[in-house]
Amino acid sequence: MQISNIYPQIKDIRTNMIVNVSGSAIEDYVQTAEKINELEAIPAIELNISCPNVKQGGMAFGVSAKGASEVVKSVREVYKKTLIVKLSPNVTDITEIARAVESVGADSVSLINTLLGMAIDAEKRRPLLSTITGGMSGAAVKPIALRMVWQVSKAVNIPVIGLGGISNWKDAVEFLLAGATAIEIGTANFIDPAITVKVADGINDYLDRHGFTSIKDIIGGLIV
Ligand SMILES: Cc1cc2nc3c(=O)[nH]c(=O)nc-3n(C[C@H](O)[C@H](O)[C@H](O)COP(=O)(O)O)c2cc1C
Repeated sequence: MQISNIYPQIKDIRTNMIVNVSGSAIEDYVQTAEKINELEAIPAIELNISCPNVKQGGMAFGVSAKGASEVVKSVREVYKKTLIVKLSPNVTDITEIARAVESVGADSVSLINTLLGMAIDAEKRRPLLSTITGGMSGAAVKPIALRMVWQVSKAVNIPVIGLGGISNWKDAVEFLLAGATAIEIGTANFIDPAITVKVADGINDYLDRHGFTSIKDIIGGLIV
């Protein structure tokens, strides 16, 4: 990580910046978290636990409750500010992983990371990705992400940040209704770099139209 290069360029930006932290061993996460803990302008980190644990056969930390809680527990010991843990959807029961990281000190969970996918060029009879399989994101993953956000928001007592395929304000409102207290937007930024501003405006319009005075009025407001 290039703190000496990047931090001076961003430290005076007047917004809340969250750094996404990856690693291939627990020590990587711990060392990075320790360094970022010292940076005044960064109030939170988001741990990407979908990375392969190189020392444990390459299985991602986030696909077992044990692997997920081990890395989060180690980071929690050194990182004093807000610790968000980003969950992998490539699991049988995401609520089990969410509860495991909550129990070792996660302040919040964000979900979902990419789903494991694959693409094939039939003419060449070859995989399209050099890695053969790879992360799938964007609009097609939204129903899965929504389902997982809804399940996790019922399973834990910490805030849930929802993401996965959010492409417009309506998608964002759906995640809030499902129980997310905040949202993130990934892939849609590649299509429209101004998407976040449009989504924020659209949420405000929705609240006004429905007579709500705060976004808090719709969080978890799904009527079932
Ligand atoms: C090109 C690309 C790079 C990504 N890099 C990261 C990363 O460094 N750390 C991380 O936690 N997630 C990463 N993700 C996953 C996204 O942050 C997000 O969880 C996922 O794509 C689903 O949301 P979206 O459909 O809004 O993109 C990446 C996704 C894409 C498409």
